[in-house]
Amino acid sequence: MIQISSDINRAATILQEGGLVAIPTETVYGLAGNIFNESAIKKIFKTKQRPLFNPLIVHVKSRKYVNEVAEYIPPKATQLADAFWPGPLTLVLKKKPIIPDLITAGKDTVALRMPDHPLTQKLLNALDFPVAAPSANPFGRISPTKAEHVANYFADELEMVLDGGPCQSGIESTIIGFDGDNPIIYRLGSISREDIEAVVGPVESITKNDTTPDAPGMLSRHYAPTTPTVLSNDVLATVMKHQGKRIGILFFKTIVPHDGIAVAKVLSPNGSEKEAASNLYAALHDLDNMNLDVIIAERLPNQGLGASINDRLLRATK
Ligand code: TXA
Ligand code: MG
Repeated sequence: MIQISSDINRAATILQEGGLVAIPTETVYGLAGNIFNESAIKKIFKTKQRPLFNPLIVHVKSRKYVNEVAEYIPPKATQLADAFWPGPLTLVLKKKPIIPDLITAGKDTVALRMPDHPLTQKLLNALDFPVAAPSANPFGRISPTKAEHVANYFADELEMVLDGGPCQSGIESTIIGFDGDNPIIYRLGSISREDIEAVVGPVESITKNDTTPDAPGMLSRHYAPTTPTVLSNDVLATVMKHQGKRIGILFFKTIVPHDGIAVAKVLSPNGSEKEAASNLYAALHDLDNMNLDVIIAERLPNQGLGASINDRLLRATK
């Protein structure tokens, strides 16, 4: 039976012995294992029911370690790491042979990130290996932003969630890969395109391709509640279309009352995209547990973190 605890020593021991621990980060909880322990890494894929073609992010404790595992660090990768690490930025770089193929799904690149969470930083400092950590949810489901979300998913499969409280940023890291020296956004996340471009200038996005995903976080269905979910520009018009159903609404900043609505939640009463991002997954988890027939999510203005939130909501609707 899973334990929710903030005992770093215990978490370190489990990881050293080749077990898995769910760890808090500033984005979402991750399902962590020693990158050099093959059976731990296999357990990550098995626990998540994640296809082996979908590579894992390696979480490092220091910038120095990046030189040990990356073959080449483009100048703009250095600028981005200077600006955003520790923080919700993942860099995909050419890997050195030391990184096992199982982590990278056979790719010649490795995804690296230095998380900004005090408990997890302490944990990483207590270990002499980095950890691979995908989001701690079954494949395709909503990412966990609280220890309880992880415990609900993996009550029997996991020994421990290291409880670091609710995740501050609330959606996954922004992933940047490189074509030569040119940065490319693989997955929009907790750092907005505007903030990335303020550091390195205009950046292309990867084009979606479900069959050979370069970043399978780009898979069109992902981050999804089990309740059918729709994204709407005009919530009340969408409510009319679903008349007679038990409807839950996820509003951005203001609740518009209507008799046809069973449950309404607001992501940010002040209209802050940052606050909305940090509340998004917890609100979806809650709505998903309310026996609704449909969840209608209001589309945010498509700028800043609003674009990242819309990206996740769109994938939740597929
Ligand atoms: O915020 C986050 O990034 C969280 C926390 C726990 O750090 N982690 C996370 O991991 O979201 P995961 O596995 O759910 O998503 C990682 C994404 C996947 O879509 C994967 O395909 C992509 O990163 N990825 C990993 N290695 C890659 C590589 N070498 N090339 C391209 N994409 C890669
Ligand atoms: Mg994930």
